[in-house]
Amino acid sequence: MTLLAPSILAADFGHLAEEIAACEEAGADRLHLDVMDNHFVPSLGMGPEVVAACRRSSRLFLEAHLMVDRPDGIIPAFAHAGADLITVHFEACPQLHRTVELVRREGASPGVGINPATPVEMLSEVLEIVDYVLVMSVNPGFGAQKFIPSTLHKMRRLAEIRRQRGLTYRIEVDGGVGMDTVAQVVQAGAEILVAGNAVFGKGDATVNAAGLLDAARAACLQKV
Ligand code: DX5
Ligand code: ZN
Repeated sequence: MTLLAPSILAADFGHLAEEIAACEEAGADRLHLDVMDNHFVPSLGMGPEVVAACRRSSRLFLEAHLMVDRPDGIIPAFAHAGADLITVHFEACPQLHRTVELVRREGASPGVGINPATPVEMLSEVLEIVDYVLVMSVNPGFGAQKFIPSTLHKMRRLAEIRRQRGLTYRIEVDGGVGMDTVAQVVQAGAEILVAGNAVFGKGDATVNAAGLLDAARAACLQKV
């Protein structure tokens, strides 16, 4: 079953609790929080207090996407704030194995993200110890960018490697996911869809999220 993780980067922060409630009503399974350090990515935003605020107003599974260089020092704060999943970037962690183990030790599920220019093969040695692989389908740092189609083959490859090696990580996609790309990413193997602009950009967030979920589940059924 495909899951939707609305990215609150595109939400109205003045009405965050209502935006989150709209996602819950649509049947979203989780919330995606983009943490940006103005170093690994040009933007800045969302410390652990935002995770804590979401935790207080929602029971949804919370994922913190750390677009942060050398994030080890801040991982405990995100875990304690209530993040259920903490995704770190391959490109930002010189000792990735240690960082992934730290996330698990702090009580969160570990995920690893890769930028569009990073091949899946770079993750070979950590696939056994992560719960999620996040395929960035835009260059990280901003919402509302255009989906990069050459990232689709990485989702296919991750599904293939998982089968071959008998692993259990889940495949997540982030960036430019909307009604025009949802079927492609699901058919390529993405199981969790992050969507910011397509949910909160215009119109009603509940209707948008429900529409995305319907389209994703229809594409998933076609796949089988
Ligand atoms: C991009 C972030 C995304 C972003 C996605 O750096 O990691 O999570 O919010 O936004 P959309 O869905 O608008 O591309
Ligand atoms: Zn993200």
